[in-house]
Amino acid sequence: MPSVLLHSLSVGDRDLKGNILCAPLAGFTDVPFRELAIEAGADLCFTEMVSCEALIRENPKTQALLERGRNEQDYGIQVFTSSPESAAAAMKFLIPYAPAIIDLNCGCPVPKVIKTGAGAALMKDPMMIGAIVKAMKKATSFPVSVKLRTGWDHQNYTFLEAALRAQDAGASMVSLHGRTKSQGYGGKANWEQIARLKEVVDIPVVGNGDIFSADDARNMLLQTGCDAVMVARGGLGNPFLFREIRALLSDRPPCPSPAPLERIKTALRHLERCAEVKGEARAVKEMKKQLCSYTKGINGSAAFRNELVHCESLAEYRIHFSTFLSSIAG
Ligand SMILES: Cc1cc2nc3c(=O)[nH]c(=O)nc-3n(C[C@H](O)[C@H](O)[C@H](O)COP(=O)(O)O)c2cc1C
Repeated sequence: MPSVLLHSLSVGDRDLKGNILCAPLAGFTDVPFRELAIEAGADLCFTEMVSCEALIRENPKTQALLERGRNEQDYGIQVFTSSPESAAAAMKFLIPYAPAIIDLNCGCPVPKVIKTGAGAALMKDPMMIGAIVKAMKKATSFPVSVKLRTGWDHQNYTFLEAALRAQDAGASMVSLHGRTKSQGYGGKANWEQIARLKEVVDIPVVGNGDIFSADDARNMLLQTGCDAVMVARGGLGNPFLFREIRALLSDRPPCPSPAPLERIKTALRHLERCAEVKGEARAVKEMKKQLCSYTKGINGSAAFRNELVHCESLAEYRIHFSTFLSSIAG
C-alpha cells in the first residue's frame, strides 16, 4: 500500500519519484555529496547555486558546478540573479544539462550576493521575483521553481506575495526556508509559515528548515501539510539521514543510525570520490570540514579529527583513516 507521506511529486510536466529533496548548499552539494545523498535515498538534489551572469560568460568554474552525478537520474539546478534579462539569457546555457527543475535562489544572505540585489534581497521585491520567473519561463521549457525565505526581517514577511507572484508567473514549485534573511541560520525555522503558504498557493510546497532527524521530516509533513521536505544542514556528514527519512515515511521499520564503522567508511569513500572528481589538491582542502562532521559523536574521534585537519595529501588521509578504522573495528 502506498504511504501517505512518501509519494511522487509532480513539478510542471515532470514527475519526481519521491518527495525527499536535498537542498542546495554552496560549498557542499557537489557531485560526490549528491551521489551519496541519492544512494542513501534522496529523490532529487540541487546543485550549488550558480550565477546567471557567470553562465552567460560560459565561466568554466560555473560549468563544472553543473556536472551531474553518476546516479543522478534527475537533478535540480539553482541559479541566482537580480535581473530578468540575465535570467532569460542564461536559460539556453542550461539546455545541455537537462535539469528536472531550474530553481531561483531568493534566500542567500551572503553580502556579496545581496549587494547585487540577488538572493535574499529579492524578498524585499516580490514583484521582481515574479518578473524573473516570467523571464525564465519564457526562455526555457524546463520547470521553474523558487526557493524563498519568509522575508527580509520580522517586520517584513513577504513570502506569501512572493510565492503568489512566482506562481502567477509560471513557477511549478515553491520551497520555503522558514527564516527571515535577518535570522541567517539561527533561531528556529517557523514551520507555521510553511503551513500558511500551503493554504495559499496551488503549486507544490517544499518545507525547509531544521530537519535534522527522520522524525523532523515526518513532523514537518504532518504539521504543515507541505508536499515535500528539503534537508539541508542535517545532511552534512550524514547522508544516512535520507535513508532514515525514507524508511520512516514508507512506514517501514525505523532505520537505525549508522554504526561508526559505516560512517567512517562512507567518509573515506566521499573523500576518494571528491579526489576523482576535483583532483587531489582540492579534495584534500575542501573535504576537511565535511570529514569532521562524519566523525562527530564517535568515541575517540576528537584526536582523529585533529589529525584530519592537518592532512596534506590523500595518502596521509588514508593512513589516518586506516588506523582509526582498525581502532573502532576492535
Ligand atoms: C553552508 C550553507 C550553504 C548554503 N547554500 C545555499 C545555496 O546555495 N542556495 C540556497 O538556496 N540555499 C543555501 N543554503 C540554505 C539551505 O539550503 C537551507 O535553506 C538552510 O540551511 C535551512 O535549512 P536547515 O535549517 O535544514 O539547514 C545554504 C546553507 C548553508 C548552511
